Amino acid sequence: MEERQDPWSSSQIKDYQKMREEFGIDSFNYVLEDNLMARRSLFVGQRDFWRIREAIERKDKFAAMTGLMPSGEMHLGSKAIIEQMIYFQKKGAQVHISVADLESYATRNIPLEKARTIAIENFLLNYIAMGLKRCNFYFQSTNARVQKFAFILAREINFTEMRSIYGFDDSKRMLEINSPIIQASDILSPQIYDEPMPTIVPVGADQDPHLRLTRDISSRMNIIKSKTNGKSITFSIGGREDPEPYFNIIRDVIKDSGFEIGKINQKYRTAEVENFEGSTYDLDLKIARKERELNHINSIAPSSVIMRLETGIRGGKMSKSVPDSTISLNEEPDQAEKKIRRAVTGGRESVEEQKRLGGNPYICPVFELYLYHLSSTDIDLKNVEEECKSGTRLCGGCKIEASDLMSHFLSDLKEKRESSRHLVGEYLENGK
Ligand code: TRP
Ligand code: SF4
Repeated sequence: MEERQDPWSSSQIKDYQKMREEFGIDSFNYVLEDNLMARRSLFVGQRDFWRIREAIERKDKFAAMTGLMPSGEMHLGSKAIIEQMIYFQKKGAQVHISVADLESYATRNIPLEKARTIAIENFLLNYIAMGLKRCNFYFQSTNARVQKFAFILAREINFTEMRSIYGFDDSKRMLEINSPIIQASDILSPQIYDEPMPTIVPVGADQDPHLRLTRDISSRMNIIKSKTNGKSITFSIGGREDPEPYFNIIRDVIKDSGFEIGKINQKYRTAEVENFEGSTYDLDLKIARKERELNHINSIAPSSVIMRLETGIRGGKMSKSVPDSTISLNEEPDQAEKKIRRAVTGGRESVEEQKRLGGNPYICPVFELYLYHLSSTDIDLKNVEEECKSGTRLCGGCKIEASDLMSHFLSDLKEKRESSRHLVGEYLENGK
């Protein structure tokens, strides 16, 4: 049977290699020394990350985009996403964050007013407390531009595709079918209402289908499409309009960039550049920006980094719908401590056995807490790992240490939330 990643289900992805092969995701092989998750191999895939790397190196304009589902608490999984948004903001990205209140209305039946309160109290305040600077923070329900563009891009997608990506059956309500469409609009809007630019979307591995959909839509809305095999580039001109103005764009940009245009095929509407070396970053951007003069809905396909999913502290997927599996950032510290004490571990049957054989940190959700959240330095993390494997660390003490660290983190965050409250207005007035 065909495998499907379901963004709304609660099962854990086990085999990332298989996921990459199946969905055409590249592995993440970039060295980002200043990114904790990259260093710890927590990025299990990427799409077109090279574009973001180049944008950062050239100090070019680029966008970072994410959305939040205001249906409940902000938990540890969302924390990891916001850490990435803060990382890219520091690297120069313009940050856009969409409150997916239309999606939470559609899929979780949350009234819009309630979603607003949740978005501010449980999410925005934590974002500010964690260090997110001012950005474009908006609500889907009040953003006319994003809604309008969702309407327009719905042209590019039919029900057969929605069914094959999401597994929707015929009884699915239109409201739910709409959610991924408005989300695609979230992701492309920074480019539609400004100009084509690289966009990074950090996602959990279960959210990759949204990116696939959005990248497909993006490529369909572009009239000039390009393909490279590392040695040559082939441009093709889609649509039914007169191709000549688009051939002109290609000719101009190629000449401008010091390359030579090769074969032009009028019938098949293609043009080639042979002997092309290096990256297509500049060409793509220049062509997209020129095309924009004729086609107001074109874009550069958004890039993503795909994060390994955390295991719930009771095993299984860490999910909002299983409150005991995760810790919310607004949770009382002593409550979180209790949850960690009850976590499953990679420990042995008995203390004696563990001292002799060591534990297994690689199947241990408590170790994952250190890995994603609690060990601020790689040396601390290495120590936990080695001590566990050698049997000098026992699960009882290990959990106490983890719960102390978590409790400190949560109390500190709580204080920062309160001292950030006066800033909320500034973030909200930005939204568009
Ligand atoms: N669907 C996402 C979630 O369930 C929220 C979301 C809305 C989003 N718009 C987005 C995520 C754009 C990434 C990019 O959490
Ligand atoms: Fe997990 Fe810690 Fe036990 Fe090792 S010692 S198995 S890391 S709880």
